[in-house]
Amino acid sequence: MEKGGEEHEYSYSYYRRQESIALVVIIVLASVAVASLLVAFSYYCYIRNKVLSKRSKSQSTRLDSKDKACNADLEVAMDDGLHVFTFKQLHSATGGFSKSNVVGHGGFGSVYRGVLGNGRKVAVKLMDQEGKQGEEEFEMEVELLRRLRSPYLLALIGYCSDSSRKLLVYEFMANGGLQEHLYPISGSNNINLKLDWETRLRIALEAAKGLEYLHEHVSPPVIHRDLKSSNILLDKKFHAKVSDFGLAKLGPDKAGGHVSTRVLGTQGYVAPEYALTGHLTTKSDVYSYGVVLLELLTGRVPVDLKRPPGEAVLVSWALPQLTDREKAVGIMDPALEGQYSMKEVIQVAAISAMCVQPEADYRPLIADVVQSLVPLVKTHRSAAKVGIS
Ligand SMILES: Nc1ncnc2c1ncn2[C@@H]1O[C@H](COP(=O)(O)OP(=O)(O)OP(=O)(O)O)[C@@H](O)[C@H]1O
Ligand SMILES: [Mg+2]
Repeated sequence: MEKGGEEHEYSYSYYRRQESIALVVIIVLASVAVASLLVAFSYYCYIRNKVLSKRSKSQSTRLDSKDKACNADLEVAMDDGLHVFTFKQLHSATGGFSKSNVVGHGGFGSVYRGVLGNGRKVAVKLMDQEGKQGEEEFEMEVELLRRLRSPYLLALIGYCSDSSRKLLVYEFMANGGLQEHLYPISGSNNINLKLDWETRLRIALEAAKGLEYLHEHVSPPVIHRDLKSSNILLDKKFHAKVSDFGLAKLGPDKAGGHVSTRVLGTQGYVAPEYALTGHLTTKSDVYSYGVVLLELLTGRVPVDLKRPPGEAVLVSWALPQLTDREKAVGIMDPALEGQYSMKEVIQVAAISAMCVQPEADYRPLIADVVQSLVPLVKTHRSAAKVGIS
């Protein structure tokens, strides 16, 4: 009987233990379930928050850009020192690109006189050239002028670029291109052929300083590739600045090197070795500069097929005469008579003769040209003051 009682007690305590184990298991499982529910819920909250904040952010940026678009016509955005204009702004600055505001036409397109909202006078170049060449020129002009700053280079104020329209906005040069003041241009009624000798010398020096900046003060050097009288612009006091970098090329890093490229440039100004081989160096610019110097001396167009045989190409006609004292005076622009001294003519003729040498190595560096012109401009100025010229 006792044994039966013991057995009963044993099985009773056994069941109690089993019961409490089961209870513990249930509690553990329940807490795991609650914990996983909690984790799942907090993950849900986290994701939900993220989605909501993303949605509200995108809404606010959409509003922002809407605001910006609305204000675009009122404000002028700045992009790295250059203004980014809207087409509408430039349309109204140029009186709707009216014909009366056209100041010139070139390979890139038409150039318009304009006035910005703040009253600043500008020149707006509107690209009418379709295709890759125009786009490349546009990009090169913006990228180079963004980095280059010199009083002898035309300043780019800003640009407008959307998918189909490309415009460049420059400081306005009241007296336009140098060529307009040297010889009559067909299709234009330029009658301001009044540049005197002193002004021509100063323009020659300032243009040389513009090139000197490109060749000597920038690394790697920049080769302009399209230096010509229409790319030398004159402000209201006839100070000169070099313009149009659309065709510019970065030169070789090592001294005396060259870059090979397609031959681009303007007839009459392209150096012979570049035209023949495509090898481009800073000396190619020096050649083009020499042609501009000859235009300043003679008042003649670089290539004029209406001239008598032997005179059509300015360099070929002038070069043999430049090193002869008597003959050098004979090629001078008749409009300059009485304004120069023999010494000045001989010196400037010698500089231009060196610049247009067919052999690139015989041409001077543009820095040497600047050095040779500085004293001429100075002495001429002091001579003019005492009334000698
Ligand atoms: N910033 C400016 N201020 C005043 N007039 C300008 C300005 N830029 C250009 N012009 C005028 O517009 C004319 C045309 O210039 P543009 O540079 O478009 O052509 P180009 O120099 O004749 O030829 P290319 O396209 O081969 O350079 C210039 O000759 C000049 O009279
Ligand atoms: Mg030009």
